[in-house]
Amino acid sequence: MSKLQVTTPESLPEETGADAALRPSRLDEFVGQAQVKSSLQIAMDAAKQRGDTLDHTLFFGPPGLGKTTLAMLMAHEMGVQLRTSSGPVLEKPGDLVGLLTSLGPGDMLFIDEIHRMKPALEEFLYPAMEDYRVDVRIGEGPHAQTIPMALERFTLIGATTRFGLLTPPMRARFGLVERLGFYPAEELQQIVTRSAAILQVPMDEAGAAEIARRSRGTPRVANRLLRRVRDYAQVRADGRITAAVADAALARLNVDEFGLDDMDARILSTIIEKFGGGPVGLGTVAVAVGEDAGTLQDVYEPYLIQQGFLERTPRGRCATALAYRRCGITPPAGQTTIFDG
Ligand SMILES: Nc1ncnc2c1ncn2[C@@H]1O[C@H](COP(=O)(O)OP(=O)(O)O)[C@@H](O)[C@H]1O
Ligand SMILES: [Mg+2]
Repeated sequence: MSKLQVTTPESLPEETGADAALRPSRLDEFVGQAQVKSSLQIAMDAAKQRGDTLDHTLFFGPPGLGKTTLAMLMAHEMGVQLRTSSGPVLEKPGDLVGLLTSLGPGDMLFIDEIHRMKPALEEFLYPAMEDYRVDVRIGEGPHAQTIPMALERFTLIGATTRFGLLTPPMRARFGLVERLGFYPAEELQQIVTRSAAILQVPMDEAGAAEIARRSRGTPRVANRLLRRVRDYAQVRADGRITAAVADAALARLNVDEFGLDDMDARILSTIIEKFGGGPVGLGTVAVAVGEDAGTLQDVYEPYLIQQGFLERTPRGRCATALAYRRCGITPPAGQTTIFDG
């Protein structure tokens, strides 16, 4: 992947053309997150009125909730170019300097997974964010020279799934910090309905509601399930998505009625069956289910906690009474009183 690229919706490495078609292209098509949208709107209107660049902005929250989409929408609204990169892709200071010096006045630089940026590179980013300047080192050893280089005024947009892993000086340099949370079913239903219209899939309201309810609060999951249900509807039904068709298709995908997928279910049953319901450390659970601990923490845990299946205690993760019920196991007497309240 090129380290320096201008983003069009099609060029994002994480998605295919089909995903790009579903990505909202205007802020008013972006469903939900009302609080976040209004803060962004105010900041953008104010910047436009002053003829200024937008403050550096950080989005954080679990994957698939719209961080990248918002970055693209903001560049579009501000009428500037968006260049994209990501923490793990930036290796040398030169990579970052190359990106920064390529920015025109007011342009935006999007750094995804910014918590994974090397500390040595972060040091370069600080003066760039504060004073629109990079210090370029020329030569080696005792003859090395540092030459300050002026940059255009730009906006850095960072995205991260792990706010806690961002260094304090990094956090402090963002003027706007916005957290994206899981979407309620009504909003996911709007998203699925919009996507079905774009994909020209016939679907009734109950069908949309069923997909929405089982999408882990996540637009990316909702769009993915919609495509799978569409395939099923086409091959096994008359092409139309109804609640019954959605239910049958999602059952085949092992998405249960709580919206939990295979891995969610495995995590819960592992904690209950192998570790007596917890408390058990995240690393131990990760090994037992064969998934990376970071992924457990970023992708699976936030939703399980939000939905009341899992509790994070100082001594480790505990399955709640609801988790026992989901696994079809009667919770131990003590557990019910502790976790049901
Ligand atoms: N609020 C929203 N309204 C409509 N679609 C959305 C919304 N948020 C996300 N999506 C859809 O979900 C997909 C994933 O969003 P993305 O911005 O890539 O998430 P993130 O960068 O947080 O992982 C996008 O392709 C887009 O189609
Ligand atoms: Mg993203």
